[in-house]
Amino acid sequence: MFDRLPEYPWAQLKPFAELASQHAGGIVDLSVGSPVDPTPFAIQSALNAAANSPGYPSTGGSAEFKTAVVSWFSRRRQVPDLSIDQVMPSIGSKELISFLPLLLGLKPGDVVVQPSVAYTAYVVGAALADCEIVSEDDPALWPENTKLVWLNSPGNPDGRVLSAEELRQAVARARELGAVIASDECYAELGWDEWESQLIPSILDPRVCEGDHTNLLALYSLSKQSNMAGHRAAFAAGDAKLVKSLVNLRMHAGLNTPAPVQHAIAVALRDSEHVNHAKNVYRNRREVLLEAVKAYGFDVSDSEAGLYIWATLYEDCWKTVESMAKLGILVAPGTLYEPDSKHVRFALTATDERINEASKRLHDAIGLEHR
Ligand SMILES: Cc1ncc(COP(=O)(O)O)c(C=O)c1O
Repeated sequence: MFDRLPEYPWAQLKPFAELASQHAGGIVDLSVGSPVDPTPFAIQSALNAAANSPGYPSTGGSAEFKTAVVSWFSRRRQVPDLSIDQVMPSIGSKELISFLPLLLGLKPGDVVVQPSVAYTAYVVGAALADCEIVSEDDPALWPENTKLVWLNSPGNPDGRVLSAEELRQAVARARELGAVIASDECYAELGWDEWESQLIPSILDPRVCEGDHTNLLALYSLSKQSNMAGHRAAFAAGDAKLVKSLVNLRMHAGLNTPAPVQHAIAVALRDSEHVNHAKNVYRNRREVLLEAVKAYGFDVSDSEAGLYIWATLYEDCWKTVESMAKLGILVAPGTLYEPDSKHVRFALTATDERINEASKRLHDAIGLEHR
């Protein structure tokens, strides 16, 4: 049982963290996507205001929470046709991702599909339910016994955005297979380049599913856009029947989101201003780091939204991790997300000062023997 999952993969980075820490200017840790900016004051106030909370919270979510989620989907995600029985809170998204196959009753041998370059939690969920994981982007190649498909747009680590048409094709194929599609969309308000001027589509968008939410679930998190990773503030929306069953199981299991966090989610979703502010902060960091990463000689793939730069020197990714660590910069090796990767992932979740320092070190290294 305990060998179903290996040691937590970030442990492999420890020697490189030690190497990077020896740099005279200190380590610039760009290896994890954990926000460093303050939780907005209005959200902190909301948490304080709801701190008196002696009773158990609603597993399915308070009326205030549900109304705020429905209205946010309409305002910010082009999903105008959700009702309050289609939404539920989760305790951060990672928890729901990791337990969804179990909660859906998937059996050993059932297939869970994930993107070819994938965030690490989808495989964890498949392993906990003893399911087979298939990494495949092309819907035509999803196996017949697929029971759950994970989409991730914008993607972590690659920042790839799926168009409404790509999502539509995925939904059509999942419907042929009778599979559930869970779409992990937590970077959807952080679009760059062409996604600055248009909203990033959700799986629940009528252009994608024609208003039929059967077997569809969109997962969202306020960890990134509202600097609430410490509060485990997240939610899911979609098929009302699915939501009802999940909430029932989660009620039995005690998987409920604290009431003050539900209130804070509602307050955060009603306020776009702090999200715009966070986006401006990340846009600046991205510009600085992207320019330096390219100047150093990296080719950048996708990275059109979200909080990462997915880049390659066309060599074993661990070699790149080492050369970055020698500059005091810690990055995540691509092998955490795809086998035999030649990419590394730079996170934008460091202070302006650290991002500027990383940029300076990359520039200073140009022309020196760095590879
Ligand atoms: C694609 C993706 N999904 C889910 C999560 C988890 O978010 P949460 O903090 O809500 O657990 C992350 C966090 O990095 C992520 O990158």
